Amino acid sequence: MTDPEAPDLIETAPVVPDAALDRPIALVGMMGCGKSTVGRRLARRLALPFVDSDQEVETAAGCPVSEVFERFGEAAFRQGEYKVLARLLDGRRKVIATGGGAFAEPGTRDLIRARAVTVWLKADLDTLVARTARRDTRPLLRGPDPRAKLARLLDRRTPDYAQADIHVVSADGPHGRVVDAIIDALTAHLEENTAS
Ligand code: S3P
Repeated sequence: MTDPEAPDLIETAPVVPDAALDRPIALVGMMGCGKSTVGRRLARRLALPFVDSDQEVETAAGCPVSEVFERFGEAAFRQGEYKVLARLLDGRRKVIATGGGAFAEPGTRDLIRARAVTVWLKADLDTLVARTARRDTRPLLRGPDPRAKLARLLDRRTPDYAQADIHVVSADGPHGRVVDAIIDALTAHLEENTAS
């Protein structure tokens, strides 16, 4: 039987030297751009640990993100998210999938930029709409017209995401290709930064 995960495992792992990557990699971008799925695969390829900041918030809060929003409001969620990221961004090499709004919060963005190599996974509105429609777990998209909500957020947040060190397009198609693109861009970024 063919294992759909197998090709990734047998590919030659690209070398990102410890000396060049001396901090975590943080994936940023809109809900549905693939931060968690791509992040998990990227971590596997680089043989690094993977963490998802939404999951860590849920563990800390003892309930799903949607319930944190309902019971305590978005501001409380953002505070929790900041605290969790401050703990996760501990200088160790790992891949962190951040929640879509984290990099749009000025204080949280400053924290992430200071302590991680940041990768913006760029996806167009149609892709985001299609991917987020698969699950009803995102409080900011509940209610009528999730497409309009996503469009507004994408518009508002694009200048924030653009402050990431690396920009990679996350289109439909194999996630392995996005992982390859991240590794290429990351290698170039690290070379540039160690050269200067
Ligand atoms: C949010 C994105 C979500 C989650 C919360 C708020 C946002 O994470 O943190 O629902 O503000 O964009 P994902 O980007 O992982 O869906």
